[in-house]
Amino acid sequence: MKFSFVKSFCLALFISMLTIAAPALAGDAAAGKSSSAACGACHGPEGVSVNPMWPNLAGQQEMYLAKQMKDFRDGNRKDPVMAPMAAALSDEDIANLAAYYSGL
Ligand code: HEC
Repeated sequence: MKFSFVKSFCLALFISMLTIAAPALAGDAAAGKSSSAACGACHGPEGVSVNPMWPNLAGQQEMYLAKQMKDFRDGNRKDPVMAPMAAALSDEDIANLAAYYSGL
């Protein structure tokens, strides 16, 4: 009884460590660049926006960028301009775009 509790506790700990340590889907910056054409109209071709109402993306943290795009896509962050842009992005597109913009 005691042994199986310890065993299952260790197993649970191990699984949660694996989950925490699992790297986020690694993005491909080159692929991100090729799908960023539409984004450049607002966020600038080099990720620096020309409009004070549109955020710069260049050099922003990769995980943050990915989270924001998922939040827009999934409706957790709302913006009438940006949300439709994120609507069609797959997790892979998002990872690639985040890798591209964070590396600028
Ligand atoms: C029509 C203009 C427009 C286009 C095109 C556009 N965005 Fe945006 N984007 C915005 C605006 C405006 C915001 C800020 C929304 C807000 O105020 O919450 C934003 C916010 C963002 C953010 C969050 C930035 C932050 O600092 O929180 C990310 C990431 C982003 N856009 C990525 C993209 C990507 C990737 C594309 C191309 C697939 C794209 N955007 C296309 C207008 C646009």
